[in-house]
Amino acid sequence: MHFLILIICCVRAVLTQSCTPQDATLNFEELATKYGYPPQKYKVTTEDGYILTLYRLPGPREPVLLQHGTLDSSSTWLLRGNNSLGITLANANYDVWISNLRGNKYSRDHTLLDPDKDDAYWNIDLDHFGTYDLPAIIDTILHVTRLKKIKVIAHSAGNTIFYILGSMRPNYNKKIKLLIALAPIAYMHNSYNAVTWLGSNVRALDDILLNFNVHELFGETTLLQKLLKVVCNNPLIGYEVCLNRLLFPLTGFDNEQIKPDFNPIIFGHFPAGFPRKSLLHFSHIWRRKEFIRFDYGSQNYRFYNSTEPPRYNLGAVTMRIVLIAGRNDWLAPLKNVNLLSKKLPNVVQYIIHPLKQFNHLDFTWGENVKENLFPYIFDALNMYS
Ligand SMILES: *[C@@H]1O[C@H](CO)[C@@H](O)[C@H](O)[C@H]1NC(C)=O
Ligand SMILES: *[C@@H]1O[C@H](CO)[C@@H](O)[C@H](O)[C@H]1NC(C)=O
Repeated sequence: MHFLILIICCVRAVLTQSCTPQDATLNFEELATKYGYPPQKYKVTTEDGYILTLYRLPGPREPVLLQHGTLDSSSTWLLRGNNSLGITLANANYDVWISNLRGNKYSRDHTLLDPDKDDAYWNIDLDHFGTYDLPAIIDTILHVTRLKKIKVIAHSAGNTIFYILGSMRPNYNKKIKLLIALAPIAYMHNSYNAVTWLGSNVRALDDILLNFNVHELFGETTLLQKLLKVVCNNPLIGYEVCLNRLLFPLTGFDNEQIKPDFNPIIFGHFPAGFPRKSLLHFSHIWRRKEFIRFDYGSQNYRFYNSTEPPRYNLGAVTMRIVLIAGRNDWLAPLKNVNLLSKKLPNVVQYIIHPLKQFNHLDFTWGENVKENLFPYIFDALNMYS
């Protein structure tokens, strides 16, 4: 029966593309509106001229900022519709702010530089997100709401950059009332399989990309992205190729929480563009087994006055933090989260999700997160005021 439906669907898909669920084709604003919250849109300009899009689903309770991770965008917080974290928080009357980091499809703008013409636009490592984007986003929210502190929920690299913020710009620690870190990442070296492969080969891959002058990974207009979308959105092979062969080997397998029906919604929104240099920065962290700044090799002295890239000072990250980790998260394995939890001075809770299969993607995309994850988040939001 399923097979028959699939066949019919595929024939129709070829003819009309009608297999695509509506949510795969809507942008952030359309999604938010569909689920009851026409968003407000703020343009945030950073100290170094990048123009970011910050959305708000206004509500009467306190503000909560949602920060996406690598290759992702604000949409990630809405992909499960009524069961997504963004909509669930809005339904609970929170004032929900959802940001986009420089370089993704919603924040691909600058006061002077043109991302399509100026390579300088893409000179972005993880420091830039942490020391420019986050301060501009946070200060905008504090200014609009006239508050002194906010709570934040951040996924994956979205929380990595908060550790960078707290160590490089320590006066921002006091502006964060609470950081709930989903799939916490600082250290990379105990990551599994595909990550290890990627880590060891990233130099070679990076050289190839540089040769082709590729600074933007999976931008909407890039050939790679167009190819990926064709393959991943194919109803017959999309899930097998793009989840089972591409994403799950990096993030841990969970065929229960992310099933084939959700595949087109993921690839309607992901990947949303990311700077090549930032991914390379992660590989430096992986290779050196330390949470360090970008490694310029023989040029380090010019940038840092030292032959080695400096470590971020996790001891200076004094903001209050709740860590929530997945047992099956191959990108943020417990060994690494344990290490991070020991280095951070103000971890108030370290929660390991009870589901054995809970992986890196489940935090934002899992089918049952409303029941199996959000209660921890709401408890933490209520506990620390
Ligand atoms: C989402 O929830 C709202 C309120 O309960 C409901 O009216 C709406 O139909 C739901 N939307 C979808 C697509 O399920
Ligand atoms: C490097 O060190 C020298 C001598 O201590 C100092 O004058 C200079 O400002 C430093 N440069 C940087 C980039 O920190």
